[in-house]
Amino acid sequence: MKGLKKDLRPKQHKQRILSEFGKHISKGQIKFLKAGHLDFFETKRRGAFFEDVSTGKRYLDGFSSAGCFNVGRGNPEIIKELCAAAIQSDMGSAGLLSKQKVQFAQKLVGVCPGDLKRVVFAGSGADAVEGALKLAIGASGREKVISMLKAYHGHSGFSLSANGKDYYKELFEPLMPSFDFVPFGDLEAFRKAADKNTAAVILEPIQGEGGIHVASDEYLWGLRKICDDLGIILIFDEIQTGFGRTGKLWACEHSGVIPDIMVLAKSIGGGVYPNGAVVYRDIPVLQNFVEKHPRFHFSFGGGTDIGCRVSSKVLDYIVENRLWENAEKMGGIIREGLLKLQKENPAIILEVRGRGMMLGLEYKHDFMGMLMAECLSRKGMFAAYSGNAPQVMRFQIPLTITEGEAKEVLDVVQAALKLMKLYFILLIPLSRLPLSRRLVNDPKVLIFANNLLRRFGL
Ligand SMILES: Cc1ncc(COP(=O)(O)O)c(C=O)c1O
Repeated sequence: MKGLKKDLRPKQHKQRILSEFGKHISKGQIKFLKAGHLDFFETKRRGAFFEDVSTGKRYLDGFSSAGCFNVGRGNPEIIKELCAAAIQSDMGSAGLLSKQKVQFAQKLVGVCPGDLKRVVFAGSGADAVEGALKLAIGASGREKVISMLKAYHGHSGFSLSANGKDYYKELFEPLMPSFDFVPFGDLEAFRKAADKNTAAVILEPIQGEGGIHVASDEYLWGLRKICDDLGIILIFDEIQTGFGRTGKLWACEHSGVIPDIMVLAKSIGGGVYPNGAVVYRDIPVLQNFVEKHPRFHFSFGGGTDIGCRVSSKVLDYIVENRLWENAEKMGGIIREGLLKLQKENPAIILEVRGRGMMLGLEYKHDFMGMLMAECLSRKGMFAAYSGNAPQVMRFQIPLTITEGEAKEVLDVVQAALKLMKLYFILLIPLSRLPLSRRLVNDPKVLIFANNLLRRFGL
């Protein structure tokens, strides 16, 4: 009896956390998580895994908080540096001189391509996007910004305005004026939209939230040329693609196109301490603006002394372990395996795409994203479908995984696909009729139905 009580304790603990989360943070979020069996209670975190003590199960982290854990979950070397930094200093005063800021800035520009040699710090990804757009608008003296349909750049003023899907924005209109949107990959559409009043174009070299769409080299070179001709500032948001994820340290290295501004966050903090940076080219138009307005962008959470020490260690770790090479190799193994699964499951998988360890699996129907998240979770893996494209599963596993773990990923995906087919007895016929197809692909209906099933312990 005593033993049973002890076994129940973690479950009761999770129940209490769920209830308090609902009370103080959001019941809606709990419903969303439960619908996809994503209500994990992360406890121990190491490498490519985390544990949920309430179920006693170990899960592969197939999402990495959309690319925050490139150096692995709970990396001991990064944690050691964080602890040492916190003991030896504090965050430091924003804007004042510090060795930590200078050392990290030097190290960062040392591994950035071309003349990306100057840094503005930021407190988060969205904050870095704000800084980049303010720099471009301020320096050019122009108003218009061109962004991409399906793009995701964050949840604050300029960054929210740059998102390419109404779903993020419609509740908050009117946002920043002068934002234009063109289809990602369509150079002619960009050429038509761009003019002498365009300050900047911003894009992700691989759209993450939009459903893992890779920009071709020709497209990026075409953008570079039009930007050079019209004096437009080219901004790459490498918040998800940076720090080795795509098989190079920076995704822009695949094409060799150097942006005027590169935006960084997420894995810059090694998954343990937030930081962000805007790296920009050492060219007069940008440099003069920053020198004239040194406080044009400022955040007390960005470029802190602790953050800079952690980020320096992250860069050392990535470079010493050549993590981008592991991303290329392990990503290749996973991609091959997913392509094989696509051949075996043509009624489920439409396409496998991506680069390095930034892979996407597109399903035939929207409802399959949430269903697959659930099946993967039941089989031991956390993977998220795209917020902007629910029919696309994103695989963004920590870059530290071994070959054995890469094979485990494929075993789990295979088992999840098998499990998913059981649901098809009901769902595939429903997806054939227009009205029921709309219902089964509607996220709100899916969340409601799945929560109902969870209530009955299914
Ligand atoms: C490409 C991209 N840009 C910007 C952001 C915003 O970053 P943050 O959540 O740190 O504000 C994200 C976050 O998911 C992102 O993936």
